[in-house]
Amino acid sequence: MKTAIELRINGENYELLVSPNNTLLEVLREKLGLMGTKRGCDLGACGACTVLLDGEAVLSCLLLALDAVGREVTTIEGLSETGELHPLQQAFVDQGALQCGFCTPGMILTAQAILLEDPRPTEATIKKKMSGNLCRCTGYKKVVDVMRGVPTPAGKEA
Ligand code: FES
Ligand code: FES
Repeated sequence: MKTAIELRINGENYELLVSPNNTLLEVLREKLGLMGTKRGCDLGACGACTVLLDGEAVLSCLLLALDAVGREVTTIEGLSETGELHPLQQAFVDQGALQCGFCTPGMILTAQAILLEDPRPTEATIKKKMSGNLCRCTGYKKVVDVMRGVPTPAGKEA
């Protein structure tokens, strides 16, 4: 049996009919077409599906859509409010902190949650808090550099 709910996503309200077992990830991708939130493992192991829930990073494959009612959901599509890339997105691009980009929305949203809590996190903190976001191609050093505001050395741009 479906339930009528209202979700607030990227600053807009959506009225939806969902099954009790629908995850937030399913609703974002399959009902709303917000494909920036990636389905990797669908098991809570890769971080690709990370979104912000009231500013905190959560795995949308493990969260029931019903449990997002009354909360503010931010997906990668809603990170920037200006239509331009968010500064964190731009920094990932500028420093070549991505390759195929599949993990990148989740990486950026986890990074954003960390930086909202602490604008100057230590390298150890970044590594610990980003440990749930897996990347199969780029590696992690440039992601850590972006978050620490370390510029890419000349000649090493992607
Ligand atoms: S798809 Fe959610 S953690 Fe991998
Ligand atoms: S950039 Fe390809 S998985 Fe991370």
